[in-house]
Amino acid sequence: MKPINVGLLGIGTVGGGTWTVLTRNQEEITRRAGRPIRITAVADRNLEHARSLVGDQAKLTDDAFALVKDPDIDIVVELIGGYTTAKELVLQAIENGKHVVTANKALLAVHGNEIFAAAQKKGVMVAFEAAVAGGIPIIKALREGLSANRIQWIAGIINGTTNFILSEMRDKGLSFDAALKDAQKLGYAEADPTFDIEGIDAAHKATLMASIAFGIPVQFDKAYVEGITKLQAKDIRYAEQLGYRIKLLGIAKRKEGGQVSGVELRVHPTLIPAKRLIANVEGAMNAVLVQGDAVGATLYYGKGAGAEPTASSVIADLVDVTRLHTADKHHRVPHLAFQPDQLTDLPILPIEEVETAYYLRMRAADKPGVLADITRILADLEISIDAMLQKEPDEGEDQTDIVLLTHVAREKAVNAAMAKIEALTTIAGKVTRIRLEELNG
Ligand code: HSE
Repeated sequence: MKPINVGLLGIGTVGGGTWTVLTRNQEEITRRAGRPIRITAVADRNLEHARSLVGDQAKLTDDAFALVKDPDIDIVVELIGGYTTAKELVLQAIENGKHVVTANKALLAVHGNEIFAAAQKKGVMVAFEAAVAGGIPIIKALREGLSANRIQWIAGIINGTTNFILSEMRDKGLSFDAALKDAQKLGYAEADPTFDIEGIDAAHKATLMASIAFGIPVQFDKAYVEGITKLQAKDIRYAEQLGYRIKLLGIAKRKEGGQVSGVELRVHPTLIPAKRLIANVEGAMNAVLVQGDAVGATLYYGKGAGAEPTASSVIADLVDVTRLHTADKHHRVPHLAFQPDQLTDLPILPIEEVETAYYLRMRAADKPGVLADITRILADLEISIDAMLQKEPDEGEDQTDIVLLTHVAREKAVNAAMAKIEALTTIAGKVTRIRLEELNG
């Protein structure tokens, strides 16, 4: 059977893994796909490195724009990352009638609507399993495995770097800065870790999952994004004493029937009950919890990064595209799971409208009436307290930490309460707020 020809843009970590796995498992992959899948051309700036991996088994070029025009190429795999050149290359590949497989979450979270529309028009597929949670087939699960369900919410640990840092902070009592340094030393965090530690990478992935889960256009610009840089080791400790772990979660939740309808799309550090399976996902691992109305809760766990785990998803997409490229384009799985003319305009809610529970920590004078003032402020705003922790002041100190867990409240009310508590003369500094999700299935 005639092979399908793949052009690889970028043969770095994931590209190298894709080459290795495709070569190693060629025979089984061919039996699954129905015909051989061959990488016949590779574009990379570092030709020497590319040559050391592929030898003379594929054409090599440093001109990626030539590769996306090459008439011999059926599928372009984009693994160079970034928004600018990658966008031009993907759009040109589509324009030239090529299917695209990409691991580029940033590109799709920001320009996905334009790219999917171009692909739709041209009748080609853009597959992106590797863009979310590395080797975990979460896109396949959401788009196909769960297609009977009304998906209610998704909560995912979808950034391994930050999960590694949080695990280190908890296990070793390290500060954020010290844990980040460890992560960099061990190769888990990049020299410039901004996208990971500020929650941007997780927000790209959550944005894509929200679109597929609810059938809404991609709207990264509306996501609420808060990273882990301000987390203190003592919050992790207090959370632990209250029976919770802190994880950076990407959350997409459908809200209907209340005062406001829409989708909550947010990334932030989150307290979750320590007894949940997902709370025990440690180190650089990823996990995504999906709640569907029919199936209930389902949990997907695995490696969210790395050469071969990510290659596993890239190649699964190559197999899908190979099987489907001759199918009538109306019978293919839509990019965002819902037919393109069936996407809804359910709005992404501003963070002030989000409803969740909260962890609030404040530094208070150890005097009569302080707690009464705080609880009065919360009661006036109809915020109900669920649990409380107060330590005796340290020797020689007249201030202490008070930690409150609230029941579910609206963020707007919590903002107002925090401002009033901070204005009390008995409270020193700012109130620390961390959102809390019970993740009841
Ligand atoms: N930088 C990501 C992470 C992996 O730390 O999980 C690629 O998405």
